[in-house]
Amino acid sequence: MNVILMGYGRMGREVEQILNQKGHSIVARVDPGGMGDMTSVDEESLKKADAVIEFALPEGIVKRAELYSSYGLKAVIATTGWEKQRKDVLSPFKQDSAAIMYGSNFSMGAHLFFRLSSYAASLINKLEDYDVAVIEYHHNKKIDSPSGTALSAAGKILENLNRKKEILPGNPPGAIKPEQLQIVSVRTGSIPGIHKVCMDSPADTIELSHSARNRGGFALGSVLAAEWLLDRSGIFSVDEFMQDFLD
Ligand SMILES: NC(=O)c1ccc[n+]([C@@H]2O[C@H](COP(=O)([O-])OP(=O)(O)OC[C@H]3O[C@@H](n4cnc5c(N)ncnc54)[C@H](O)[C@@H]3O)[C@@H](O)[C@H]2O)c1
Repeated sequence: MNVILMGYGRMGREVEQILNQKGHSIVARVDPGGMGDMTSVDEESLKKADAVIEFALPEGIVKRAELYSSYGLKAVIATTGWEKQRKDVLSPFKQDSAAIMYGSNFSMGAHLFFRLSSYAASLINKLEDYDVAVIEYHHNKKIDSPSGTALSAAGKILENLNRKKEILPGNPPGAIKPEQLQIVSVRTGSIPGIHKVCMDSPADTIELSHSARNRGGFALGSVLAAEWLLDRSGIFSVDEFMQDFLD
């Protein structure tokens, strides 16, 4: 597979390592910050590439998506923060051989954790004794709270556990209601990300835990996603890919 790396920051470099390990070729490393081979993508690279893996910034994403579409590329857009431009980014991909996959979490391990959370919630659905909460730990520079991953795991639990009806983020004063699913966010030190689903009954406690060690899981997921797109066209979410890949 011939791949354009759009964005050659921390994630772009991680993806490069995985592509090299798997024997894929990198056609161009594109980064306006000057760290790559070129600051904007050239026509020669677009013609040569099968796929593009994008971990960049959202500015200019509509134009880039049009470019990927017009060159029939398989595009993995892992760049985040373009929700408001979603329609403009995705609409060019409807009619030709190009394909796009987008999502805010390409980590294979995180998606395994979502799957396990769904399954655990469906099991305790019949066991009224078990209550459940989500706890996440991150470094003290993290801006968002709860994390997107914690919200996704909580969403899977709500889908499968009838007695929980809504998410309660944080630690508001007073007792929580039985139908609330609490997400506790701890911010301290340098933790890359730990997510736990804690199921507790009068007799015992069961915990599912996912600990991110580095960015490698996101990079591997994006490369597997590009490989999966090779013989497909159209628009796919990362959830659709993971569902197909893990089944
Ligand atoms: N979807 C996921 O699973 C996932 C996981 C990790 C990071 N991300 C997202 O990936 C993006 C990059 O993350 P990072 O940690 O590598 O950040 P980073 O800051 O290390 O790198 C971003 C790079 O993109 C470059 N860039 C800026 N505008 C660009 C453009 N128009 N075209 C090409 N490159 C451009 C910057 O110069 C920089 O080198 C962010 O949006 C981040 O939220 C997504």
